Amino acid sequence: MTRFNDKVAIISGAGTGIGASAARLFAKEGAKVVITGDKEHEIRKLAEDLSAAGLAAVHFVLDATSEEQWSAAVRYAIDTFGKINVLVNNAGITGDPGGWSESSLANFHQILEVNLTSQYLGMQAVRSAIKDQGGGSIVNVGSTAAYIAFPNTKPGYTASKGGVRQLTKSAAVEFAPDNIRVNSVHPGGVDTPMNRYLTEDAEVLKSVNAKIPMGRMAQPEEIARVILFLASDDASYITGTDLLADGGLTAV
Ligand SMILES: NC(=O)c1ccc[n+]([C@@H]2O[C@H](COP(=O)([O-])OP(=O)(O)OC[C@H]3O[C@@H](n4cnc5c(N)ncnc54)[C@H](O)[C@@H]3O)[C@@H](O)[C@H]2O)c1
Repeated sequence: MTRFNDKVAIISGAGTGIGASAARLFAKEGAKVVITGDKEHEIRKLAEDLSAAGLAAVHFVLDATSEEQWSAAVRYAIDTFGKINVLVNNAGITGDPGGWSESSLANFHQILEVNLTSQYLGMQAVRSAIKDQGGGSIVNVGSTAAYIAFPNTKPGYTASKGGVRQLTKSAAVEFAPDNIRVNSVHPGGVDTPMNRYLTEDAEVLKSVNAKIPMGRMAQPEEIARVILFLASDDASYITGTDLLADGGLTAV
C-alpha cells in the first residue's frame, strides 16, 4: 500500500514501541518520516535502518515537553522535506508502577507534562504548517486509562490520558475549518518496553492476559496500524473521535 506517498509525517517518542512501529509502517507506505524522541541513539538507529532499506526517514532529538524544541523540529521537517502533513503525538511515560501512595506532586506534574502538555505543544507547533498544505491529520496516543482507572497506576497517568481524549476533541473542533482532522487512539496493554515489568514475569503476564477478553496484549504494530488508518484518507470523515484498540478490555 502507498497511502502516504508524497506525505510527510512527524512522530514523537518514536525510538521504541508503538512510535517506532508507526514510523516503519508510515515509511513503508510511502511517507517521508521525521522520527523524533528524547533518546538520540534509538531514533538515529531507526532512521538509519529505514534509510538503508531505501525508505525516507530522518531523526531529530525532541524532548516533547519543550516548546522551543517543537519549533525546531517543525523547522527541521520543513527544511528537510518541504512540508508536514501528519503529526503523531505518541511520546509517553507511566511514571513507574505504584499508585497514589507512591505519587508525589513532582511525579504528577512530570507525567502530565510528558503525556498531555507535549500533545498540546505538538499540535500548536504543526498547525499552521499542516494548514499550509490544505489540511492533514493529527493522531494523539491515549490509553484505556482515559476510560477506566487501574490499581497500582500513577494518578498522573490516568489524568493525563483522560486529558488526551478531551484535548483531542477540543483541537478537532477548532482545526476542522482548516481541514485538519484530529483523533485519538486508546490502546490497552501493548507488548512494548513500557510494559517489560509485566511481560517478563510469566505469572504476572498470565493474570494480565486473563483480564483481556482477547486473552493477550497487542503487538505494537496492531496499534500502529490503527494510527495509520486515522492518519490516512481512509478516515477522511473522522475527526474528534476516540478509538479504543484494547482487545475488549473496556467492554467488560
Ligand atoms: N504499552 C502499553 O501498554 C500502552 C498502553 C496504552 C497507551 N500507551 C501509550 O503509547 C505511547 C507509546 O508507548 P509505548 O508503549 O510504545 O512505550 P515506549 O516506552 O516504548 O515508548 C514511549 C517513548 O516515548 C519516549 N519519551 C518519553 N519521554 C519523552 C519526552 N519527554 N520527549 C520525547 N519522547 C519521550 C521514550 O523514549 C519512548 O521511546 C505512550 O503514550 C503510552 O502512554 C502504551
